[in-house]
Amino acid sequence: MKKIIAVSKGDGIGPEIVTEGVKVLDTISKYTDFEFELKDAPAGGEVWKKHGENLPDKSFQTIKNADALLFGAVGLPDLPPGTGESAVLKIRQGLDLYVNLRPIKLYNVLRDKCPLKEEYIGKGIDITFIRENTEGLYKNIGKLEKDSAENLMVYTRKGCERIINYAYKFAKRMGHRKLTSVDKANLLYASKFWRTIFHEIGEKYPEIEKEDIYIDAFCQWLIRAPYKFQTVVTDNMFGDIISDEGAFLIGSLGMAPSGNIHPGKVSMYEPIHGSAPDIAGKGIANPIGTILSIKLMLQESFNLVEIGNEIDLAVEDALKEGRTVDIKHKDLKVLTTSEMGNLIVDKLKNKLKN
Ligand code: IPM
Ligand code: MG
Repeated sequence: MKKIIAVSKGDGIGPEIVTEGVKVLDTISKYTDFEFELKDAPAGGEVWKKHGENLPDKSFQTIKNADALLFGAVGLPDLPPGTGESAVLKIRQGLDLYVNLRPIKLYNVLRDKCPLKEEYIGKGIDITFIRENTEGLYKNIGKLEKDSAENLMVYTRKGCERIINYAYKFAKRMGHRKLTSVDKANLLYASKFWRTIFHEIGEKYPEIEKEDIYIDAFCQWLIRAPYKFQTVVTDNMFGDIISDEGAFLIGSLGMAPSGNIHPGKVSMYEPIHGSAPDIAGKGIANPIGTILSIKLMLQESFNLVEIGNEIDLAVEDALKEGRTVDIKHKDLKVLTTSEMGNLIVDKLKNKLKN
């Protein structure tokens, strides 16, 4: 079967990491019945410099006509804040990608890179954050005036219901026992509303244990006992913050993938890190966040769960032999971005051949 993948390399390290992701897609095309055709869809700060737009119409059309979007990272330090970055929000809003799926998994081989004490890591870290991705504080409702500035946090019933429904279904699909909802219901109306809907929908899922936790307490528990959590659903801003905190726990922000999803429609897959202009062009960025985003794409957009799992195993095998500098180990070779990508592709080839 053939699928069209729009590719936005973006700015900074974006092109370097996406190149490694593309190697993985090409490998799958070569060794399985599945085929990917790639179409360039430039977005971000570099394209803004050329065309005065961070998401030219042509790119957005290419994305809309594709089966999925592989996205690198956007943002340049020599442009006003948000000039490149807002392309991401435009795509999320424009395609109504209301789910932001952000799994964090600590590979056993990277336990030494986790900043937590062994006893706190305990049974390990394997959490999926499900962040609401189209409402709340990030929906551009606000104003900046001379003596004040404001943003409104608005949550609608439709917005809460669809993300919370997705989260219960996801927890069930993954065989998770518990779903945690993170909010600030002791203060915010938007959170009280969210919490009520969390429990209303939960009645359809008696087999799943429901847990409510305030965002401030959650941030503490996430570093004190991360093994307590499996699937975590939360609003847009809290999800933005805790997914970065979580990514830090798995050894490097460069390891964390994400999917911006509207089930059944064209969805966007991107590593959660930014364009990191300070290390761009040096060949040292970690491509694993991008490669694992492709795993998510296969799993969520194309139902290719097995190939997705092979990618995961290929990454784990590769990490035993060499690593990029952000996760380096004294007994292992330090690899460049493309060497890391090649090593993973090598492992993947062998798995797909068998
Ligand atoms: C993320 C990023 C974005 C967000 C920025 C670039 C707008 O931080 O994907 O988490 O806040 O959603
Ligand atoms: Mg963020």
